[in-house]
Amino acid sequence: MTQPSADSIHSLTQRAILQLAEASDAEALEQWRVAYLGRRGELTNILRGLSGLDMEQRRELGALGNRAKTELEERLAGRTAEVSRAQQDAAFARDRIDVTLPGRPTIQGRLHPTTQIVREITDAFAGMGFSIVEGPEVEWDRYNFEMLNIPEGHPARDMWNSLWVDYRDEGGRQPMLLRTHTSPMQARVMESTQPPVRVVVPGKCYRYEATDATHEWHFYQIEGLAVDEGITFADLKGTLYEFARRLFGEERRVRFRCDYFPFVEPGVDMSIDCFSCDGNGEGCRICRDSGWIEIMGAGMVHPKVLADVGYDTEKYTGFAFGVGPERVAMLKYGIDDIRHFYSNDLRFLSQF
Ligand code: PHE
Repeated sequence: MTQPSADSIHSLTQRAILQLAEASDAEALEQWRVAYLGRRGELTNILRGLSGLDMEQRRELGALGNRAKTELEERLAGRTAEVSRAQQDAAFARDRIDVTLPGRPTIQGRLHPTTQIVREITDAFAGMGFSIVEGPEVEWDRYNFEMLNIPEGHPARDMWNSLWVDYRDEGGRQPMLLRTHTSPMQARVMESTQPPVRVVVPGKCYRYEATDATHEWHFYQIEGLAVDEGITFADLKGTLYEFARRLFGEERRVRFRCDYFPFVEPGVDMSIDCFSCDGNGEGCRICRDSGWIEIMGAGMVHPKVLADVGYDTEKYTGFAFGVGPERVAMLKYGIDDIRHFYSNDLRFLSQF
């Protein structure tokens, strides 16, 4: 046991203070505490040794020892606070966030250009009183052809030589295909409602097709149908002129030509002057030298089609049209190849 003396207390205290300054983590601090102030610590030992001294010395050294103990305890508390602050500062420095760094941009999706133009076109017709409905992409032969006055063996089927889906039930094989146009919805809508009818039907169509700058094997159409008493060809032209004006503005030229579709009579196609050659046509691969780009087929609904859905053909007449929205987008935005739409190249898609 250490022989207590004022000197030994003093030198112990000095040593402890010097050593404490070196303790720089919680573990070292605890070791230090055990070494000096613990149950078997050096200072504790000295204080314990006081009991063997006489009264006078005991009082004197006792007071000295207690002061030393208090001092060491206070210094330990101070150093502990210092160490934990230093550790905190180091952690802050390590995890520092530089708020002046530019953020990482999140890539934001957007609507496909076809979706955008389909909405624009359907909005234009909605503004003229048409409602918007949708129909199935896999369609019965009956609606895609039969109900549109294209019976089995009709030459018009050749134009729509298409992608067949084999469907069988108890009744045998039912011919089904990926619809070649949205026109089957004419028959479906009329079968389920009575005039007046005013609908537009956006949707995907599919054809067995050699692709080029203006033809894709799958594409969108927007079908339109208006049936009521007293509807004439003038209504058809008025409505479609108004549509062209809303989409392309006043200055764009519009052309109607006679065309044949078995489910309309008379039938027309509607073209807009070519954006690429400004309607000149010479050597233009977009309009194939014609100066015009066809964007839709249209006509007065054939009486046979009206009769087949049970409408009174003496009372009701109507017009129908089918717009190609990708072609409309090409004209509007100067896109020179329809195949861009579905090749999923972000360099193209992100421009819209
Ligand atoms: N369904 C025709 C096509 O795909 C377009 C059309 C629709 C023509 C309605 C006349 C009336 O080409």
